[in-house]
Amino acid sequence: MNRRTFLKRSFGSLITLIGLSGGTYFYAKDIEPNLLKVTEEPIHFPNIPAAFHNFRIIQFSDTHIGFHYDLDQFKELAIKINQLEPDLILFSGDLVDKPNQFYWDDRIVEILRSMNAEYGKYWIYGNHDHGGYGTEIVKDIMEAGEFSLLQNESVPISKDGSYFTLAGIDDVMLGKPDLNKALQNQQENDFTILLSHEPDFADITKNYPVQVQLSGHSHGGQVRFPFIGDLYTPPYAEKYVQGKYDLHPNFTLYVNSGIGTTRLPYRFLCKPELHMYELKSE
Ligand SMILES: [Fe+2]
Repeated sequence: MNRRTFLKRSFGSLITLIGLSGGTYFYAKDIEPNLLKVTEEPIHFPNIPAAFHNFRIIQFSDTHIGFHYDLDQFKELAIKINQLEPDLILFSGDLVDKPNQFYWDDRIVEILRSMNAEYGKYWIYGNHDHGGYGTEIVKDIMEAGEFSLLQNESVPISKDGSYFTLAGIDDVMLGKPDLNKALQNQQENDFTILLSHEPDFADITKNYPVQVQLSGHSHGGQVRFPFIGDLYTPPYAEKYVQGKYDLHPNFTLYVNSGIGTTRLPYRFLCKPELHMYELKSE
C-alpha cells in the first residue's frame, strides 16, 4: 500500500465513523440505495453502421439480489428499464449476492422475462455468479429469463442488413476469461462492444480492436466522499472505478456503479445507476 492509499484509507475510515454515525447513516442505508440514476451516454465511432444511429442500449449491473435488494425492487427496476424503451439490454454480472444461500423461485425468472428489447438481452458472469457454486444455477435462471450468455464469445447484432459485434468475456476473478476466443469471429472494421465484469481488464482490451468496454463490479465504491472519492473497491476495479474513460482515441471504457450493494448495505454519493447508451453513426 503506498502512502497516498494509506492516507486515503485512514482518513476515509475516520470520516466513515464520524459521518455515518448520525443522520448520514440513515441516509446512506435507507435513502440513497433507493435513488436510481439514469446516466445517458452517446457513443460516437466512425465504424458504427448508419442503421444503428440512435440505437439504444441499456446496461444494468451488480443487482446483488438478496443482500438488501429484494425482488420487489428488482421488479421496479424492470419496469423502469422498459420505460426507457431499449433496443438492447445488457446485464454485466452479479445477479444475486450469494447464489448458494438464495431462495430461488420463478419470480426472478418472470421479472427477467418481463424486460423487453427487440434486438435481444445478453449477460456475462460476474464473480458473485461463479462464487457460491452459482455457475450453473445463475446460468439456468438467466436462460429461463431469456438472457443469452456471452462467455468468451460474440454475436452479431443485426439491423437492416448491417451489424455490429457484441462480445463478452468470462469473469476475470473466478472464471476463465479469453479475449482472443471472444473475438475469434470478429471481422476487420466491425464496430465492437465488449462486456467485461471487471473494469480494470480494459488495460488488456485496449490493445485489441474493440471500441467500447462496458463494465460493472466496482459499485462505484458504494461510499464516496468529497475530495477523497471512494474508500474501497474490489480487486480489478482499483484503477477504473466509475464513469467514462477514454483510454485512447479508438477505445472507451464505461464503468457502471451497479444497482445493489455488497459487503456493507450503504451507498453514499454513489447512487444506483442504469446506463443508457445511444449509438451515433457519423
Ligand atoms: Fe458486484
